[in-house]
Amino acid sequence: MKEEYADLLARIDKQRLPQHIAVILDGNGRWAARHDLPRTAGHKAGVEAVRRLAEICRELGVPCLTVYAFSTENWKRSREEVGFLMELFVEKLYGEMSTMQANGIRYGFIGNREGLPDKVRRTLERAMADTAGNTDMVLNLAVNYGGRDEIVRAARALVREGLTADAITEQTFSDRLDTAGLPELDLLIRPSGELRLSNFLLWQAAYCEFVFMDKLWPDFGKRDLLEAVIEYQSRSRRFGGRPDDKK
Ligand code: IPE
Ligand code: IPE
Ligand code: MG
Repeated sequence: MKEEYADLLARIDKQRLPQHIAVILDGNGRWAARHDLPRTAGHKAGVEAVRRLAEICRELGVPCLTVYAFSTENWKRSREEVGFLMELFVEKLYGEMSTMQANGIRYGFIGNREGLPDKVRRTLERAMADTAGNTDMVLNLAVNYGGRDEIVRAARALVREGLTADAITEQTFSDRLDTAGLPELDLLIRPSGELRLSNFLLWQAAYCEFVFMDKLWPDFGKRDLLEAVIEYQSRSRRFGGRPDDKK
């Protein structure tokens, strides 16, 4: 298995791995159309690609992976498509449980829980509780997630807790975001040829590196992830400073 991509692995510096990778799972519909299949077949193939992605991240040693599976705007889609996706989440959350346990991966969640159908919310909560003891990697599912919604919910939390204006800092604010406690976002990957965030991780993307690719999500393989990491490691991250500046 590993020989398949040993060439790419050899080019990766294990000491400088991105600690948090996020992926926008886009292009399922176009993939299905290209194969003359219903959109639902594209979503199923997309789940397989998530499995490959989680496997390679785990193998590489990336501790945190976040996948954008359903946005706060995706409710605009047909009832059939939304219903299919919700059923698919429930089915896969249960279906992947043994793999998660065997690989020491825990489920995390970012998004608006209140807006989820009861069955999805309960399944997610159960899946998170059952995998809570796994410490090798976290697979965060962004479902009913919107960056603006997350920021508004964090602002409400601060008000509800009665923080004074002066107590609101970047730290206290980010502590109320869904990503609190996770490593900083280092690398954000969007397949499918679109060059936009579509309301994903607006706050967290402040200094992450972007990798866009034309490939549709269901075609995304382990080599693509490794190539994205190599691209990430080739960038000079300056965070507003200059690498040669000495304080
Ligand atoms: C991403 O694929 C899956 C979800 C948004 C749930 P799309 O369904 O957006 O696929 P395209 O963009 O139509 O090809
Ligand atoms: C972004 O894809 C959301 C997810 C993949 C979950 P969309 O297909 O919804 O994004 P737009 O509409 O092309 O911006
Ligand atoms: Mg899309």
